[in-house]
Amino acid sequence: MYVCVCNAVTERQIHQAVKQGAKTVKHLKDSLGVGTECGKCVSCAKACLTMARDSQDASIVKKLIQITPIQLGAA
Ligand code: FES
Repeated sequence: MYVCVCNAVTERQIHQAVKQGAKTVKHLKDSLGVGTECGKCVSCAKACLTMARDSQDASIVKKLIQITPIQLGAA
């Protein structure tokens, strides 16, 4: 799905930018040009950024759970 029509930026590109370290809409503006023309996409880009960050955080937690042994009843 296109998030920024003016610059042909997709949701997938935003997810990829988050994986590469983008944390704010300004980062998306600088790296992808999101919101640099008409600006109508900024709120959608921000929501997409939040979803991508949440998804990435959940993925990290899932990986940590898989690699960190949990000892139950050791007390
Ligand atoms: S739709 Fe993104 S700047 Fe116009």
